[in-house]
Amino acid sequence: MLLQVQNLSISYFTRRGEAKAVKNFSIEIEEGSTVGIVGESGSGKSTLGLAIMGIVPPPGRIVSGKILFDGEDLLMMEKEPLRRIRGRRISMIFQDPMTSLNPVKNIRDHFSEMLRVHEPNVSKDEGENRVATLLEELGISKERSRDYPHQFSGGMRQRVMIGLALILNPGLVIADEPTTSLDVIVEAQILELLKSLKRTHNLTLILITHNVGLIAEMTDRVSVMYAGQLMELSPTEKLFERPLNPYTQALLQSVPHVMASGQALTWIPGFPPNLLSPPPGCPFHPRCPYAFDKCKNVELQYTKVEEERTVACHLYG
Ligand SMILES: Nc1ncnc2c1ncn2[C@@H]1O[C@H](COP(=O)(O)OP(=O)(O)O)[C@@H](O)[C@H]1O
Ligand code: SF4
Ligand SMILES: [Mg+2]
Repeated sequence: MLLQVQNLSISYFTRRGEAKAVKNFSIEIEEGSTVGIVGESGSGKSTLGLAIMGIVPPPGRIVSGKILFDGEDLLMMEKEPLRRIRGRRISMIFQDPMTSLNPVKNIRDHFSEMLRVHEPNVSKDEGENRVATLLEELGISKERSRDYPHQFSGGMRQRVMIGLALILNPGLVIADEPTTSLDVIVEAQILELLKSLKRTHNLTLILITHNVGLIAEMTDRVSVMYAGQLMELSPTEKLFERPLNPYTQALLQSVPHVMASGQALTWIPGFPPNLLSPPPGCPFHPRCPYAFDKCKNVELQYTKVEEERTVACHLYG
């Protein structure tokens, strides 16, 4: 197993109180797979990704749990060996490329500098070769690689970000809403690029998104999050065939094109809870059409419903 997250809890300790952004979250990710993390905005998806990268910003802090990469607990590791894993064997693609690129550096220099800082032993020639090969794979021409970030379109900038996440040859890539700021045509191109790079670079991919359509198209397995908690974990196909958790059902029904034709577009009434004061019991109970007494005061537990499927819901145990 490449990555195992075990009972991970992460909170932001704000002046207004503790926001439990991720609560008792577990997942196992097999090498070579694409796993989706899906949920509405504010459900803790990015915080989870940042924790795996080791860059949860203050006032956020990992409260408990383990993150095992190749069997080693990242949360217990010394600084130096950890530096060789995070950023190198694990890397991340963010939603907004403009803020992550340096406006006064051309595109090619972003790549060269990344190599120089993290792999100083790579010779100049080899470095240049690696950058050139990757730029070609990204569809960025030699001429354009001397341009500056502001001369690039949103889609081209996202290509650059994907490349920067790959230049150190990581095994695991976490893509956090990688296409959210793009129009649908460019989005489709970036998704194709991700798919092809995944194959050629033997990547394991964690795709974080609020977009259920992307999950259906890109992932092998999916973890549905609500208010920081795992609601359902399932092979993607089975999840769409028969969602088990009522929250998953509501989430899928809110997306018209995934559902069989003829079905009306519905959405989930109400709002996700404020994580500073989430409701007791199942956090979805104020919005859940199936909620019963137990849901209002008993915390969720994981139940293995069938092979490879785990659900957190009192209807199942
Ligand atoms: N910098 C921060 N300071 C305080 N609370 C935060 C911060 N970032 C996130 N949170 C809290 O964590 C929750 C989850 O945020 P996030 O992981 O960004 O969710 P998602 O990526 O699913 O939209 C938010 O609803 C908020 O309560
Ligand atoms: S535990 Fe209860 S409230 Fe939560 S999803 Fe299941 S039925 Fe609905
Ligand atoms: Mg996010």
